[in-house]
Amino acid sequence: MPVILTINGQSIEARGGQSLFDYAESVGIDVPTSCRKQGKCKECMVEVVEGMDALSALAEPEQHLKGNFRLSCQTSVTASEGHVRCHTMRRGHMRIERHAFGLPLSNRAVELDPTVTRDGDRILIDGVEVERSTGPILGIAMDLGTTTVVLRLVDLETGELIADTSFENPQRFGGSEVMSRIAYDTEHPGRLLMRTLAGYLTHAIEKFPVDPKSIYEMVVVGNSTMRDLFFRQSVYSIGQNPYRSITEMEMAEGKRKTTSLVQSGLHSLLPIHPKARVYGAPIISGHVGADAAACMLAVDLAHEERLVAVMDIGTNTELIVGNRHRILAASCPAGPAFEGGSIACGMPALDGAIEAVEIAGDATFRLGVIGVPPEGICGSGLIDVLSELLRTGRMNDMGRFEDDVHRVRLWQGEGKDIFLLESDVNELAQAKGANVAGLHAVFSSYGIDFDDIEVFYLAGGFGRHLNVEASKRIGLVPSLASTKIVQAGNTAIEGATIALLSKAKRKELEDLAKRVEHCRLETHPSFFEFFVEGCQFKPVEPIPCAS
Ligand code: FES
Repeated sequence: MPVILTINGQSIEARGGQSLFDYAESVGIDVPTSCRKQGKCKECMVEVVEGMDALSALAEPEQHLKGNFRLSCQTSVTASEGHVRCHTMRRGHMRIERHAFGLPLSNRAVELDPTVTRDGDRILIDGVEVERSTGPILGIAMDLGTTTVVLRLVDLETGELIADTSFENPQRFGGSEVMSRIAYDTEHPGRLLMRTLAGYLTHAIEKFPVDPKSIYEMVVVGNSTMRDLFFRQSVYSIGQNPYRSITEMEMAEGKRKTTSLVQSGLHSLLPIHPKARVYGAPIISGHVGADAAACMLAVDLAHEERLVAVMDIGTNTELIVGNRHRILAASCPAGPAFEGGSIACGMPALDGAIEAVEIAGDATFRLGVIGVPPEGICGSGLIDVLSELLRTGRMNDMGRFEDDVHRVRLWQGEGKDIFLLESDVNELAQAKGANVAGLHAVFSSYGIDFDDIEVFYLAGGFGRHLNVEASKRIGLVPSLASTKIVQAGNTAIEGATIALLSKAKRKELEDLAKRVEHCRLETHPSFFEFFVEGCQFKPVEPIPCAS
């Protein structure tokens, strides 16, 4: 019996000889590549989720890869039977929103005042001519996440959104969270992380329905590590106590006035106009990056009188609390569990993901699936299943299943089960513990209680889609009145877009970043206590004010 090879959900009999890339092509899968199977571009990566043993040994061009990643053009099936399941990095399929929700300010309301302007056929950046053309003047806003990359293409003369796209950050081969990427970048000279990402970005930009050379500006936001990797800065110091980026240290030494970065289109390795300006928004401090700064711009914190909180749950959760008078921010290294990483049947919110779960009266699982049939379970599904197991008494608040079982099956299909392991629950408990500890640390440092908050923004794609009541039950978000919770969507890309469209707002972003107080979780005296408490699956209780 030949090996059954399943790539991106499509199965084929693999009898050896051909590469995984060849097999993928034969069933019409568009494998990312710039070198046409030469082993040079490193873009054709696949993540192998089953059957690693059935594959050929790591070839020379793959020596940079860690874990279960392989270059599909260098890998063939060597076993004579079994099952290999793998997938390419996901492109253009991640679920993204075209705008944010419930914000006081949106890019559609921003007064257009871009840095790129036109004077007849002269195209100028800050008044300096960079091109002669009567073609469009376009810009890109990018949110460079540890797990997901989102791009918006905008007409800088009208503010109109022309296109958007998103894809899984291909740098995952260097680890799923920022500390592993820092270690990878330090141990592997040659900027492999940046170059691989640049290849994916190039393909994404070339797929936009415009001439890439008409893109004259790009605003990049992301956590400190992602942003600095993109700008080819050393990220080593971000991984070492006191966790400071090069720009932050240089600013402290008086060598620069801002932590923002600028490079030319040519230097960025992207196919945009060579004289385009690529602006990396300012980071705040330590791991609190440019994405958090962009969130602040999006929720209009510079003018906000009310006390608001922003929680962007992700591999690195960003937390911001404050108003125009005082702002405190923190970054929690929660890990990828709520994005489906490190969970046996976890996956991103793509076609095939179980995104909603209910346990019916007859104890059967009712599943909401993005497309059919189910392939795995994404973050919002994981929250639901934890909440439902808790509600029905099948799991206790310590995350132990009833009757000494260690695995709960959600779905059974032909040759495939989708299940939740007790060890998965443990991963989720720790991710939740980090998030909750961050919340408690930030609120106690600010000297307020959860009830003092007037608006609680749940930011990010994940925050947009999670079930708020289920999240309150398991204690991922505080038990606030639902009227105070706004599932705002991706505020980081919203902020990046606002900064792209308006010089005044970009200045506001720079000013905001400078006056935020950084709450360093690693030195908070009660962080560990908060973490242990937060690992339990029960509503987040208010804590007494303390600092
Ligand atoms: S196709 Fe370029 S490395 Fe495989």
